[in-house]
Amino acid sequence: MPCVAFATSRDLPHSTPDDQLAVDALRRRGIAVEPVVWDDPAVTWSAFDQVVIRSTWDYHLKPVLYERWLRGFLATPEQLRNPPESVLANLDKRYLRVLAERGAPIIPTAWIDRGPQRPLRDLLLANAWDQVVIKPAVSASAHGTWRTTLAKAVADEQQFAAQAAESDLLIQPFIPEIATRGEWSLVFIDGDFCHAVIKLPAGGDFRVQGEYGGRSIAATPTPELIAQAAAILALVDGADHRPILYARIDGVETADGFRLMELEINEPSLYFKHSKEAAERFAAAIAGSIELRRLVVRVAMPARQLAA
Ligand SMILES: Nc1ncnc2c1ncn2[C@@H]1O[C@H](COP(=O)(O)OP(=O)(O)OP(=O)(O)O)[C@@H](O)[C@H]1O
Ligand SMILES: [Mg+2]
Repeated sequence: MPCVAFATSRDLPHSTPDDQLAVDALRRRGIAVEPVVWDDPAVTWSAFDQVVIRSTWDYHLKPVLYERWLRGFLATPEQLRNPPESVLANLDKRYLRVLAERGAPIIPTAWIDRGPQRPLRDLLLANAWDQVVIKPAVSASAHGTWRTTLAKAVADEQQFAAQAAESDLLIQPFIPEIATRGEWSLVFIDGDFCHAVIKLPAGGDFRVQGEYGGRSIAATPTPELIAQAAAILALVDGADHRPILYARIDGVETADGFRLMELEINEPSLYFKHSKEAAERFAAAIAGSIELRRLVVRVAMPARQLAA
């Protein structure tokens, strides 16, 4: 019986309720699924047909260890979903700069390298920004993400300097539509658009994550938005030769058009509960690739025996 590991974190030793829908869909196809803690040293990863990254939501707290874990799959890249080279390139939000160079419409961003900085107020003035969001280059669940304004920049200088001493940062103008129109998440499975949600923050907050009272609702994007998201996904390195099982394109529709917040191919929530067919499509894509790999191994075996 094929067996798949759903990589998760110590705080979430079981699958999340949402991922459970995918677990059930895989089991219906005769594929066993085991939730496995990504930094459990006792795990033999090669024992699984596939390792699917799902709720490794503490990776940003142990980034060096996480990168080492991902690199452990580079010799057998087809075993990890998404492929290790794609995930490695997606950990640090500076991948957005690369996508922007290729034409993706990202939010204007000041890229702050870790270390001493010019005063925050100067940075805001230089960019003519009044309200901004500051966030770590490596983060998840809005960890370390906060707002300030030109008027408060002097008072917030110490917080900024302390954070910049610890990590690379992004500073972006605050996009007010986050609270009115919300943030889109368009989910792609095996390269194709599957479903979408709109995420909204709780009143008075700007973070759409559930941890801060944010909520998600099923929503239908226009064909134009789907095409735009697909074009952004096509800019990802390697997507053409090693399939991306899941991707989430996050962004906000502003007065200037759609602006990309993130392109998540590491450990995004996939909002299975908001779609009738998403869990099935996810399971079918995994089942198909396991079957293909087993076929390749079977075909390669006699060839190797002949060569011996
Ligand atoms: N420029 C911005 N304008 C308005 N809100 C923002 C901006 N940048 C970030 N946010 C808010 O902060 C949240 C977290 O930011 P972002 O998605 O970039 O980082 P993350 O920590 O990786 O989040 P995720 O949980 O989606 O992985 C966003 O979902 C949004 O609610
Ligand atoms: Mg996000």
